[in-house]
Amino acid sequence: MLSGKRVVLGVTGSIACYKALDLASKLTQAGALVDTIMTRGATQFVTPLAFRSLTHRPVVTDAFDADSEYAVEHVELARQAEVIVVAPATVHTIAKLAMGMADDPLTTTVVASRAPLMVAPAMDADMFEHPATQENLGRLRQRGAVIAGPGQGRLASGLTGWGRLLETPELLGYIAHTLGRNGDLSGRTVVVSAGGTAEPIDPVRVITNHSSGKMGYAVAEAARDRGARVVLVSAAKGLPNPPLVEVVPVSTAQQMCDAVLARTEEADALIMAAAVADYRPLTTADQKIKKSDDDLSIQLAKTVDILATARGDFVRVGFAAESENLVANAAAKVTSKSLDLIAANDITSEGSGFGTDTNRVTLIDRDMNVEELPLLTKYEVGNRILDRVARLFRD
Ligand code: CTP
Repeated sequence: MLSGKRVVLGVTGSIACYKALDLASKLTQAGALVDTIMTRGATQFVTPLAFRSLTHRPVVTDAFDADSEYAVEHVELARQAEVIVVAPATVHTIAKLAMGMADDPLTTTVVASRAPLMVAPAMDADMFEHPATQENLGRLRQRGAVIAGPGQGRLASGLTGWGRLLETPELLGYIAHTLGRNGDLSGRTVVVSAGGTAEPIDPVRVITNHSSGKMGYAVAEAARDRGARVVLVSAAKGLPNPPLVEVVPVSTAQQMCDAVLARTEEADALIMAAAVADYRPLTTADQKIKKSDDDLSIQLAKTVDILATARGDFVRVGFAAESENLVANAAAKVTSKSLDLIAANDITSEGSGFGTDTNRVTLIDRDMNVEELPLLTKYEVGNRILDRVARLFRD
């Protein structure tokens, strides 16, 4: 998503400047071309050399630098930028941006650019809550800017409250969203399911599976980054919520079914990446089952097939985890569940399946066209699936 993208990173005078170094580094590692503009305040906290060393690109600090590589900096950077990210953004800079002022290289670049703007506030809680700040942020939002955070927690002042600069992974999510806001899925609602359901035996034990949820989370992020509104019905444990994705936490197959059926009422597509239990204990013991000398049998009842049940005027995509006869088994599911598309993955193949960041899938559509994809990151697999979904929307 960020590869080859021109990102202008505006850094303003806050102690959170040190986090902007990490952001600059991660953006660069993701393949973005990062041009940093620092306000005078920012240079009091960290040096331009630090950003230059991480991004391998010039850093702008002075609007009147005659030796700059950029002809007329604000115009040049403003024209080249695909997104402008102000992180951390101080109360002062936010006020100037809201007013449309242009009295330093950063604010001048913002005013001179038509690139989407993302602002990540960092300040003390009282300053953030001040009506003027709220009004200014509201004004920026109204003009189309994306406001990322701030987060809640311990602030440099020692107080606790709203005002922390978001952490780098969250900022990266916001930046990808800002870049893709007008993508081919904008205006669409995509419901994605993820993770392995857990069916309780008693208050302590569950029947579950090895699904990590990473595939569904990657689909959700990819859909967000193409402009979709995303609802992620998740039974995954331990994965951080992707920024700007509405996460509906569930545990059992029945809970997932209820959530998916409710949310697909507003959906344009349903992508079921979750590993849903096919069977659950017929009864759940109220108390912990005590050990005895005998073997224990648990009677299982069939769960509802969510994908087969969720019908309506939306694109329906399934996943099939198979350990043999990949294409034949997956193709049978396209028919039995009446799907538009299925992504079949051979869980025995290297780099695929549970817990990995990569996957090798074969796509089979309702006309039984078979497309074998190479080993890709799960995010990229998500994008290939969404390419098909976008095509179905167009058709
Ligand atoms: N699925 C579902 N509800 C279930 C079981 C599966 O919605 N109770 C969905 C999965 O999320 C997936 C697709 O159906 O998108 C196929 O799931 P899979 O486990 O591969 O197939 P099953 O239909 O359960 O058949 P089997 O386990 O026999 O392969």
